[in-house]
Amino acid sequence: MDKSKSYYIIGNWKMNPDNRKEALKIFEGIKKSSQRRRSKVVVCPPFVYLSDISSGRLPKSLSLGAQDCFWKESGSFTGEISPTQLADLRVEYVIVGHSERRAMGEEDEVISKKINALLSADLKPIICIGESRRDKDGEYLQFLESQLSFAFDEVTPVHLDKVIVAYEPVWAIGKTEEEAITGHSLHETVILIKRFLARKYGKERGFSVPVLYGGSVSPRNAEEILKEGNAEGLLIGRESLDPKSFSEIIDLADSI
Ligand code: 13P
Repeated sequence: MDKSKSYYIIGNWKMNPDNRKEALKIFEGIKKSSQRRRSKVVVCPPFVYLSDISSGRLPKSLSLGAQDCFWKESGSFTGEISPTQLADLRVEYVIVGHSERRAMGEEDEVISKKINALLSADLKPIICIGESRRDKDGEYLQFLESQLSFAFDEVTPVHLDKVIVAYEPVWAIGKTEEEAITGHSLHETVILIKRFLARKYGKERGFSVPVLYGGSVSPRNAEEILKEGNAEGLLIGRESLDPKSFSEIIDLADSI
């Protein structure tokens, strides 16, 4: 990778840990190892910990993210959190369309609304796409294109520099490293995503959107995924709750 470029290393804590004390402990560990990094490190804790975590000083290479949001600015929407409320807590990035939310019934139309609301609030959506399984006939490729079409439906070229795509094949999430994608196979999918974006926005603009990978990333496979897979970063679940492993992954990314 070109030395002037940096990788995104993003931790998605999902619904973990169980309590505030543990959350602050993990965050302090990550904060310590995120000083003066070439990679852009982003931590996405559950909403309830954001306020505490966002109160201290953050190293320049570390940013805060959230795991979801609602698409309205304010109003009678019990239980929802708006992009404006997140921005007020120094959140910069927001995961949208994670497969675990899609599995709970979140549909492409809703995901598209969330992306537009985030961009209007000057936040950066991390748009998750990914097939449940791969078939020999390559139907999963059409599925990915369809998820991309909905997600980017109303994204204008001026907003493109704020958008990140995270390719997270559902079959590779929460598994062992052996079951994660191979570098070769990932590279093909990264090309497909970049081609879609180039068709929609032109080569230069389309290719500039970072494409990340998520699904059973660990210090053991991170290098292959970044180097051979040509991913521009990683969206990490379980291993982002262990500051030591997470820091090892940042080390690897910084050394490429
Ligand atoms: P794991 O890294 O635990 O497989 O989770 C991946 C993921 O879903 C990140 O958003």
